[in-house]
Amino acid sequence: MTEPKVALVTGGASGIGAAVVHRLRADGWKAVVADIVVLAPGDDEIRCDVTSWEDNLAAVAHVEKTYGRLDFVHLNAGIATGEHDIEKLSLDRYRQVVAIDQDSVFYGLRAALPALRRAGGGDVIATSSLAGLTAVPFDPAYAMAKHAVVALVRSVGPVYASEGIRVNALCPGFSDTPIINEMRELLVASNQTITPVAHVVETVLGILASGAAGQAFLVGEDGKAVEYRFRGVPGPSIPLPSE
Ligand SMILES: NC(=O)c1ccc[n+]([C@@H]2O[C@H](COP(=O)([O-])OP(=O)(O)OC[C@H]3O[C@@H](n4cnc5c(N)ncnc54)[C@H](O)[C@@H]3O)[C@@H](O)[C@H]2O)c1
Repeated sequence: MTEPKVALVTGGASGIGAAVVHRLRADGWKAVVADIVVLAPGDDEIRCDVTSWEDNLAAVAHVEKTYGRLDFVHLNAGIATGEHDIEKLSLDRYRQVVAIDQDSVFYGLRAALPALRRAGGGDVIATSSLAGLTAVPFDPAYAMAKHAVVALVRSVGPVYASEGIRVNALCPGFSDTPIINEMRELLVASNQTITPVAHVVETVLGILASGAAGQAFLVGEDGKAVEYRFRGVPGPSIPLPSE
C-alpha cells in the first residue's frame, strides 16, 4: 500500500484553503490546516499566524511529527484591505496586509524547503491573485503584496526545480469566498465574474499535475490551470554562485 501524500494549507480554515483541504482529503491525502482561526486543534489543525516565522517553523514541524513527511505546501492565507485610497489606509493596516499576503509566503516557503527536501521533492503553491498580475486601483496595497508573491515564485522557481521542488503561483480572479463579502453587492451589480471555489480547487490540482515550476497560473474555464504568459521583458541573466 502506498503512503498517503501529506499537505499543509495555510488559511485552510475558510474559502479556497478549506476547499483545497476538503478535496485533498477526499483524494486520500493527509491535509493539515494552519490558520489563525482554529476550530479543533489537533493532528489536522494547528494555530499558525503566518506573519510569524516561528509559527511557520512550528507548522512544518507539526506536520512532519504527525505524518512523517511533507509533500505539498499551499501558502494561501491572505486578506484584502478594501481601501482604494493609500492616503486613507492606516500604516498599521498597510503593514498587516504586507505581512499576511507577502511576508507569509517568504516565511512559509523558507520554513518548508528543508522538509520538502527530506521528502525527496514536492510542491509549493502560493496563492497570489489576478491582483498580482494587473493594476488594482480599488486595493493598491493588496496588489503590491500579490505582485511580490509572483516575483518570488518566478525568481526561485527555476532554482528549486533542480531539486524536484516545484514552486508556483495561483492567480484567481474574484472567487466565491468570505474575502469578497464586503464588495459582493458591487461585484454583482457591475456584472463581475465570480468564480466558484470548486474551479479554483481544480486549478490547484492542475498545477500539481502540470510539473511546472516558477509559473503563475490563471483559473481557466471549468478550473483549467492556464499558465500566464509573461512578455519577454529583458532582464539580468547572472549565473548563481555555486556552493
Ligand atoms: N476570493 C477571492 O476573490 C480571491 C481572489 C484572488 C486571490 N485570493 C486569495 O486567496 C487566498 C485565500 O482567500 P479566500 O478567498 O479563501 O478568503 P478567506 O477569507 O475565506 O480565507 C482566508 C483565510 O486566511 C486566514 N488568515 C488570515 N490572516 C491570517 C494569519 N495572519 N495567519 C493565518 N491565517 C490567516 C483566515 O483566517 C482565513 O481562513 C488569499 O490569499 C486571497 O488573497 C482570493
